Amino acid sequence: MMQPTILVTGGAGFVGSHFVRAATDAGRDVIVLDDLSGGAAATLPPSVPLIVGDIGDAAKVREICAAHQVGAVVHFAGKIQVGESVARPELYFEVNLARSLRLLEALRHAGVGAFVFSSTAAVYGTPEQVPIAETARREPVNAYGATKLSFELALEAWGVAFGLRWAAPRYFNAAGAHPDGTLRESHEPETHLIPLAIDAAFGVRAPLTIFGADYDTQDGTCVRDYIHVDDLASAHLLALAQLEGGRTLGAFNLGTGRGYSVREVIETTGRVLGRAVPHRMGPRRDGDPAQLIADPARAMALLGWQPARSDLTTIVEDAARARRPPRRYS
Ligand code: UFG
Repeated sequence: MMQPTILVTGGAGFVGSHFVRAATDAGRDVIVLDDLSGGAAATLPPSVPLIVGDIGDAAKVREICAAHQVGAVVHFAGKIQVGESVARPELYFEVNLARSLRLLEALRHAGVGAFVFSSTAAVYGTPEQVPIAETARREPVNAYGATKLSFELALEAWGVAFGLRWAAPRYFNAAGAHPDGTLRESHEPETHLIPLAIDAAFGVRAPLTIFGADYDTQDGTCVRDYIHVDDLASAHLLALAQLEGGRTLGAFNLGTGRGYSVREVIETTGRVLGRAVPHRMGPRRDGDPAQLIADPARAMALLGWQPARSDLTTIVEDAARARRPPRRYS
């Protein structure tokens, strides 16, 4: 039997493009809706149609669903910068909540009943303890986390009222890149630790600043749970299969359960690249919790999922392959 098409919003972005690759490799038909504000059309396989447009354009969404026999949606499109969300909450509530609700309503009218939503550990805010289980208090400390949590609550309500089958994977620190080196993390501006560390080591960016070394952690720097973007992609495919099989999943963490400090990331990057990461100490960055580590048990039990490429060495190797600057012949 032919499987229905998957509509992927934000499919040209970092996590979205890796999901699109995994889904097409698995033989699924995919169509991408992306406004290209943060992604690049070149990341998409030639077989994948790209519609450049706005997720809040209900007429367009309904038209796409009808024309392409869309049976499920994976919604990656959204604003993702924590700092910017604090300065410009109106933008974050508009895109991550208001436009996402218009998308959700358009899908309801189009009869699309399966929805996977890109959520985040930022819904927990500053955790009382690690590892963090899904039962932990959800108390976002910035507008980014607040908008993601608000949309999760909408999905829950749509599930109750309209029978929507939904999943909201909460990513910890998405990192790495496709092992063939053709897709990479590319944010503008780039604020994430691993790409900044790699670029600093290659000398294509300023030395890295460590944001605080006085945290209550093993070496004083913040600890994060880095999860390879291909492991995120595989979890989304497994979640989608469950939704398509008639089940609903709700929210679950996607992380490894193992944390690495900023210093450990710097050391591993230096070792993998064979060149030190130039860095200096700086003050704490506002809003950074000391530790964010997932309890991934729910995802493992629900999906039968296991991270396969998320040890830090593999993450950095894959990320570096995609970032290596072209060799200069001079
Ligand atoms: N860091 C530095 N120097 C830098 C950049 C980062 O020391 O130049 C540190 C940060 O302080 C943090 C760690 O490296 O301790 C990781 O920082 P990232 O910016 O790479 O990632 P965050 O943990 O801040 O953010 C990630 C996601 C967010 C999400 C958040 C909480 O990118 O979308 O996790 O789940 F909201």
